Amino acid sequence: MTFQNKTVWITGASSGIGQALAEQFAAQGANVILTARRKERLDTILAGLAPGKHRIVPLDLSQPERLLQDLPSILDEIGRVDILINNAGISQRSLFLENEFKVYRQLMEVNYFGLVAMTKAVLPRMIEAGGGSVVSISSVAGKVGSKLRTGYSGSKYAVVGFMDCLRAEVSEYGIHCLTICPGSVRTAIAHHSLNGQGVAQNKPEPSIENGMDPDEAAKQMLKAIAARKDEVVIGQGISGWAPTIKRFFPQLFNLMTAKMSYR
Ligand SMILES: NC(=O)c1ccc[n+]([C@@H]2O[C@H](COP(=O)([O-])OP(=O)(O)OC[C@H]3O[C@@H](n4cnc5c(N)ncnc54)[C@H](OP(=O)(O)O)[C@@H]3O)[C@@H](O)[C@H]2O)c1
Repeated sequence: MTFQNKTVWITGASSGIGQALAEQFAAQGANVILTARRKERLDTILAGLAPGKHRIVPLDLSQPERLLQDLPSILDEIGRVDILINNAGISQRSLFLENEFKVYRQLMEVNYFGLVAMTKAVLPRMIEAGGGSVVSISSVAGKVGSKLRTGYSGSKYAVVGFMDCLRAEVSEYGIHCLTICPGSVRTAIAHHSLNGQGVAQNKPEPSIENGMDPDEAAKQMLKAIAARKDEVVIGQGISGWAPTIKRFFPQLFNLMTAKMSYR
């Protein structure tokens, strides 16, 4: 599959993995639509993309009902979308016993309901147009659990389940559904991760700082999209191996995560 002249809509394109995806799709001749909240960052990234019919569509995915109202007219303007990449997301670093309940809603609104709303608006038009790809970025945390991530993991497991069911329902319309589960990737995700009060912790984290280069992660993602894979884990070291270890040695894995120190 070539991405030349394909229209690719990427959420969470103002930073990290989404930015790297936008740059690589543009370099391969795609027309990229960049979505996130920070318009000025989207403008800067747009200005640096290889030539193409790119555009920004600033949106807040934490308000899915509003999205459902606004997206039809936005889609009328955009026209055909060949690939939707549901990448926007926020993480969490806080213990269940210390979390305010609202943290769970904040995570689900963006990571799950925002993603469902985007898909709800885009997918029927893809089917009408005769095909396309829906790609959702879950996480290794959507395959295995660990401390400090009850809300984040819950939202990312939900994405895996949603995508598995969607794939079963829409493959007959020529729609490809890919779930990507990255391990640690070197982005701003730790800075943006919520604490127990639902506020960004705004500090770095060694596992993320030492994670995979976002350009390398994006390269592997484009390869998986082109190969029309159903689900891929993309990660290096333990963060890439964790789902396999959990699958074959679940008790050992659970013991290891329970013993892991977190502060
Ligand atoms: N980095 C990792 O280690 C890792 C591992 C596994 C999975 N992931 C997943 O990969 C995806 C991208 O994360 P990243 O690592 O690139 O982190 P990042 O650098 O923090 O990027 C997150 C992106 O999501 C957007 N976003 C957050 N809240 C939003 C909202 N309410 N509405 C619209 N956009 C919103 C942000 O844009 P604005 O702030 O401008 O809105 C930003 O563009 C996420 O789904 C994350 O869970 C990352």
